[in-house]
Amino acid sequence: MRKRLVAGNWKMNKTPSETRAFLKELAPLVKGAKCDVVLCVPAVDLIPAVEAAKGSRIKIGAENMHFEEKGAFTGEISPAMLTDAGAKYVILGHSERREMFAETNEGVNKKALKAIEHGLIPIICCGETLTQREQGITVDHIRQQIRIAYLGIAKEDVKNTVIAYEPIWAIGTGKVATTEQAEEVCGAIRKLIAELYDRKTAGQVRILYGGSVAPSNAKELFEQPDIDGGLVGGASLKTDFAKVVLPE
Ligand code: PGA
Repeated sequence: MRKRLVAGNWKMNKTPSETRAFLKELAPLVKGAKCDVVLCVPAVDLIPAVEAAKGSRIKIGAENMHFEEKGAFTGEISPAMLTDAGAKYVILGHSERREMFAETNEGVNKKALKAIEHGLIPIICCGETLTQREQGITVDHIRQQIRIAYLGIAKEDVKNTVIAYEPIWAIGTGKVATTEQAEEVCGAIRKLIAELYDRKTAGQVRILYGGSVAPSNAKELFEQPDIDGGLVGGASLKTDFAKVVLPE
């Protein structure tokens, strides 16, 4: 079946030296983990993170990338730069990038196709605002985001993609979605993948919950049938992350 995945998202936190020091502390704490453990880190932290994570269970990912191979895109990072640095995963379409850097579903789709082409596992983010939830259009909104993100992705590649459902109102707020709310949307996403591809494919794709995941709520969330792990912001900056990876 699906292997659980717990991925940290550092956002704009930790310098390269802090990265080295943190990984040295974290690596022994997650040694016994049975799930996949990933830390998605700022671009300048990728190389020190990959070096410091060598020989441990931790894989390293990026937080964003451009969809072009190379060229005149000042300030951007290409997929080949990520793979050459040793990244295995890349977060795409995080709500902070959508809200603050005007990322669109179409752009996320281009990036996802490019990531797959380069053998990177995209962690494709989706999530509703509080207004959308209150208006009862959460599932419609998520379906639109995911439908567009997966345009042109071949069936055999879907198992090498990850979807992260992150309600925007739950990110960094300490207001975690209830397990029922999280499971309902993750289940709706799996149903959509079955509609777009087939049930077997839907059964293979890993769907994560994100938004104020902490050692106190991880176990219950991750035990839901359609939740295969978490995308973890704040709690991935501390060694407590090990308790999210190995919930009691
Ligand atoms: P949070 O962030 O865990 O701090 O709420 C999650 C995310 O944005 O991926």
